[in-house]
Amino acid sequence: MKIAIIGCGNMGMAFARAFLKFDLVKKEDFLLVEKSEDRTEKLSSFQPGVITGVIGPQVGEYDLIILSVKPQDFLSVSASLREVITEKQVVLSIMAGITIEMIQKNLNHKPVIRAMPNTPAMLGMGITAYSASPEVEINQLRKIENLINATGRSVFLEDEEQLNAVTALSGSGPAYFFYVVKAMIDAGKQMGFEESVAALLVKQTMLGSYHLINTADKSLDDLIKAVASKGGTTEAALRQFEDGGLDETLKAGIIAAQVRSSELSKG
Ligand SMILES: NC(=O)c1ccc[n+]([C@@H]2O[C@H](COP(=O)([O-])OP(=O)(O)OC[C@H]3O[C@@H](n4cnc5c(N)ncnc54)[C@H](OP(=O)(O)O)[C@@H]3O)[C@@H](O)[C@H]2O)c1
Repeated sequence: MKIAIIGCGNMGMAFARAFLKFDLVKKEDFLLVEKSEDRTEKLSSFQPGVITGVIGPQVGEYDLIILSVKPQDFLSVSASLREVITEKQVVLSIMAGITIEMIQKNLNHKPVIRAMPNTPAMLGMGITAYSASPEVEINQLRKIENLINATGRSVFLEDEEQLNAVTALSGSGPAYFFYVVKAMIDAGKQMGFEESVAALLVKQTMLGSYHLINTADKSLDDLIKAVASKGGTTEAALRQFEDGGLDETLKAGIIAAQVRSSELSKG
């Protein structure tokens, strides 16, 4: 499959690297369209087929066009892209909050897949949810699902609207995780540890606990109970979390992200 990537930043290149890693695309079959000069310089080490700064007629020669610019750049990109896009091409957008309908309208083009990945895609450990317009043929959808799976795992959603919740949960999720890790490291420092020691204690705790979730035959509540003995230290921490409404605050934050995503998708 020949792929044009428009916007070769963190996510666009995470996708390109994952496709290469699994031999799904040959280097020479990439067209990398990137506006930033700094980034363009770095892209040459990737040795793709073609690197360009502008959306020109050659874009029309690729099977798949990946739109991975920031949402605010979509209108200017679509103004040039609609001039060169050809009927058989499929568009895969990973832009947050830009609906399939908006893409179809602005590009005057029907086969569109909208996906929401997250940054662990850079390590092949991402999770991407996606929806497709009815004009994407099933064999095209399967091929693109294979590509997405090179970045981690994927979920197909019939209802595109649910991508707002996905954005709030797994799209933004890594930032919530880093936020909690950072607060724990800060607490470690406050208790007198060097940052490196606090970071080691917290990061290894997160890693081990993640594996316990997946391997121990216990619910999350039971896993919590197994650490928090009655009248003990963990219980003291959990009581403070409850009193401070941490659980409710986290949920409210995630719902605020969903509301914001749905506002953005209304334009
Ligand atoms: N990062 C995440 O966690 C995440 C998760 C899920 C989805 N997404 C979505 O992924 C998309 C990309 O995010 P990112 O973090 O990879 O952004 P990024 O690193 O800023 O990459 C976007 C790149 O596109 C370039 N660009 C802008 N206009 C262009 C044009 N007309 N032609 C060619 N290139 C152009 C930008 O150049 P300049 O810097 O010069 O503008 C930038 O290098 C966003 O729409 C975001 O919503 C991101």
